Amino acid sequence: GKPIIPYDEIGAETLSQLVDAFYARVAAHPKLQPIFPNDLSETARKQKQFLTQYLGGPNIYSEEHGHPRLRARHNPFSITPARAQAWLECMSEAMDEVGLSGKFRETLYNRLVLTAHHMVNESDSEE
Ligand code: HEM
Repeated sequence: GKPIIPYDEIGAETLSQLVDAFYARVAAHPKLQPIFPNDLSETARKQKQFLTQYLGGPNIYSEEHGHPRLRARHNPFSITPARAQAWLECMSEAMDEVGLSGKFRETLYNRLVLTAHHMVNESDSEE
């Protein structure tokens, strides 16, 4: 059959809800809140753009911000293994909240695990 683009499968509306549910948790998480800005609206806007292209939708992140260089963009922040785990927990709970399930959820989550681990730039002991 036709290849299914993950972005088409989730849809812009659910993706937007996912990102909002995610940052609501980030804002309340003791390990994450200290390294994020108080106002997460711009962060959420960029993350919606990024995940749109990460999932095969239009390249709206790069059109506005250039190549993602995601690991380099995280260099100013202390990304420890514990923070990567916290990030993934917030994402997993957000996925539950918006009702993602089954193979789509599993595949996306597994991809995000790899990306999150790739962002780690400090050990837990230096936290
Ligand atoms: C930006 C933390 C993983 C995508 C940021 C910012 C922080 C952060 C503190 C800056 C927010 C701001 O100033 O607006 C973390 C932590 C992670 C993590 C602790 C744990 C591993 C990820 C992953 C992705 C991602 C897995 C992609 C799936 C982004 C994007 C931005 C961002 C797109 C905005 C970059 C820009 O300024 O254009 N992250 N992040 N992050 N993060 Fe992460």
